Amino acid sequence: MKIEESRKNHKGLFITFEGPDGSGKSSVINQLYRYLLKKYPNKVVRTREPGGTNNPIAEDIRNIILNKLDYKIIPITEAMLFAASRAQHIHDFIMPHLNNGEIVLCDRFVHSSLIYQGVARGLGQERVKKLNDQALEGLWPDLTFVLMVRPSVGLKRITKNNQREFNRLDREELSLHQKVYRGYKAMVKKYPKGIIVIDAEKPFDVVVKTIKRYINKKLKVYEK
Ligand code: TYD
Repeated sequence: MKIEESRKNHKGLFITFEGPDGSGKSSVINQLYRYLLKKYPNKVVRTREPGGTNNPIAEDIRNIILNKLDYKIIPITEAMLFAASRAQHIHDFIMPHLNNGEIVLCDRFVHSSLIYQGVARGLGQERVKKLNDQALEGLWPDLTFVLMVRPSVGLKRITKNNQREFNRLDREELSLHQKVYRGYKAMVKKYPKGIIVIDAEKPFDVVVKTIKRYINKKLKVYEK
């Protein structure tokens, strides 16, 4: 799988967060967002996929994918919807902020499609990558943190957290979550560039501190 980075000439820093369900990404991102905002007021935004901050089109697509429990969506439709929502999200939100020299924190991005649709749903990473090339037009993250947590631990966290919405994908059987876990592990080995694996079974504070260290290191490079 070849990764092109033709849309890399923006002035910002694009950081994505990945991992199996229940890895604690959202809480980690919240904490990092507040931390970075103190250091760089007005220069940090956060968003998520599927959907996106202030993006009604992408959010509507999110609803189709995640909340229509009675739809039988076939994998390729699901993959196309994720990619479509991503294209809109990039155009309306991510690129304008990056072009403005800001730090964009994104909860899930293209790697989720490579793993969930490509590996777990069996479409194949190459096919999903090709589909996403249309949406990305060369925009790959500068840094991707993969928060790893075993399916048994992740699923326990999901069921414990009543504030979190429980969506269609969360209902999937354990075998899908196991495929996701193995998929991330294999991806990190095969395509390590720009990807940092974080042990998300460690205490929350340790996870946040570790990620802060990596971001600060990157920012030093980025600020030069
Ligand atoms: P969400 O409620 O945002 O939860 P999470 O905290 O796990 O990110 O649910 C998003 C779900 O959508 C999650 O199970 C992963 C899945 N997903 C894909 O299958 N492909 C994708 O490209 C993306 C962005 C998400």
